[in-house]
Amino acid sequence: MAAETINLIQDSELELHDMQGILIRGYGLLPEAKYLLLKFEDGNLARSYLQSLYMYITNGLAKPLEQAINIALSASGIKSLGIEENDFNTFLREFKEGMAEPHRQFVLGDEGEFSAEHWSWGNPSGEQVDALLMVFAHEHEYMEELLEREKKRMEKFGVKLIEALPTALLRDHKEHFGFRDDISQPIIKELAKSKGKGDFPAGEFFLGYKNLYDEHPLSPSVAEKEDPKGLLPVSYEDPSRRDLGKNGTYLVFRQMEQQVFRFWEYMRNQSTSEQEAILLASKMVGRWPDGSPLTLCPNNPNPEKSLENGFNYWNEDRYGLKCPIGAHIRRTNPRDHLVTETSAKDSEEMAAKHRMLRKGRPYGPPLDETLEPLDMMLKADDGKERGLHFICLVSDIRRQFEFVQNIWVNFHKFGGLNNDADPIIGNHFKEGELKTDEFSLPHYPVRKRFKNLPNFTRVRGGAYFFVPGMKAIKFLAKALE
Ligand code: HEM
Repeated sequence: MAAETINLIQDSELELHDMQGILIRGYGLLPEAKYLLLKFEDGNLARSYLQSLYMYITNGLAKPLEQAINIALSASGIKSLGIEENDFNTFLREFKEGMAEPHRQFVLGDEGEFSAEHWSWGNPSGEQVDALLMVFAHEHEYMEELLEREKKRMEKFGVKLIEALPTALLRDHKEHFGFRDDISQPIIKELAKSKGKGDFPAGEFFLGYKNLYDEHPLSPSVAEKEDPKGLLPVSYEDPSRRDLGKNGTYLVFRQMEQQVFRFWEYMRNQSTSEQEAILLASKMVGRWPDGSPLTLCPNNPNPEKSLENGFNYWNEDRYGLKCPIGAHIRRTNPRDHLVTETSAKDSEEMAAKHRMLRKGRPYGPPLDETLEPLDMMLKADDGKERGLHFICLVSDIRRQFEFVQNIWVNFHKFGGLNNDADPIIGNHFKEGELKTDEFSLPHYPVRKRFKNLPNFTRVRGGAYFFVPGMKAIKFLAKALE
């Protein structure tokens, strides 16, 4: 990141020193990352663990070039640390219930063979995940050293390492299907490189700041007497309480396996040429593999537009003739065109309330090192597991992540469609009235319909976490001491 940007960040109104770094950056300069799933064997020891870890945690002011460590806690993790029941109850309901709770599973479309009981972690009958330790390093050997150091700390404080989830960045910021990812992110006003550029107040993604409703998002708090040393700021909701959420946020984690062979096999089988197969896959994503948006480049990719994000749908592409209404990027962010709204402005305002700050990384080896669709179409199924650790930060799990997953990704009548779920990440297994395995391609004079879409992704594990601010970590580390 340029020095100029850092200065602007330091001048911003956000309390970066009290935030964990993951809120502010994706650690792109640290290509090695491991996500460690932890279980606390003993509450007292877990608090000592947090105390011991504290000085190694990277805050939002730091610009790490070698390593970074951040921690997030699940609902069971917060409880293990010994927080009072009344205080625990101030966390968001979705967080307290967790991603694997039956109603949440229904909302998320994690049903049948895709339900949490089949996950390898986050499974209610499996090991309880109390914390997520995110470790980043600039190179492999250094990562090994960091892991050794952290494992020793865990052993000392009775913290069990359930699993160390690997990650592997792919060339040119691509995900495993071969498409450029990480282009469209909401820009936070307080962090925008130039004044007046950002569209989103920090409170959409971080607790303790105003959101799009000009209100502070609901933030967990503790009774004043629980914080005799006055570590925490006064709660916005109730001045007699202390704000545990300030400078923290909620983190959604979904480990999503990608069936890359199946993906390109389907595209190839539905097309008369490789070029047509690439067009079909791009129609499903909404961008060409190089990232150029179909709305601006309907016939061919344009390398000059590969990072372009300044486009809309209402005037440019209302009927989805360029970027289909059901394409992944159009469902997860319909921008200024939602068929339920009567104007571009209303749509834009509505869509803005359901954005997420995406922070995930891919894992597993690519099907083909080049990640070029033409090469991947020639490959046999190698049977290896690969996918995306989808991670996003939101201040309101239900309004942002769950709404998108429920109403836009999996709803088969989204945008006036009939039997379509998101072609890339939706569930394609439902039958009858709720059939979801089609993809409609608006086309003149009649639309084309692709049927029997297999599932191209599958959740392998997941959980909701809370990423505490630095003061909140200190507080939690000493709770009930
Ligand atoms: C394996 C799973 C997934 C894959 C392969 C995938 C792939 C992609 C790709 C290639 C893009 C275009 C790059 C960009 O615009 O930044 C994209 C954008 C996006 N994805 Fe996903 N994605 C996955 C999971 C998810 C999930 C679970 C969600 C949320 C429920 C999601 C939400 C979004 C959003 C909000 C955008 C930006 C859309 C825009 O603003 O235009 N994705 N994804």
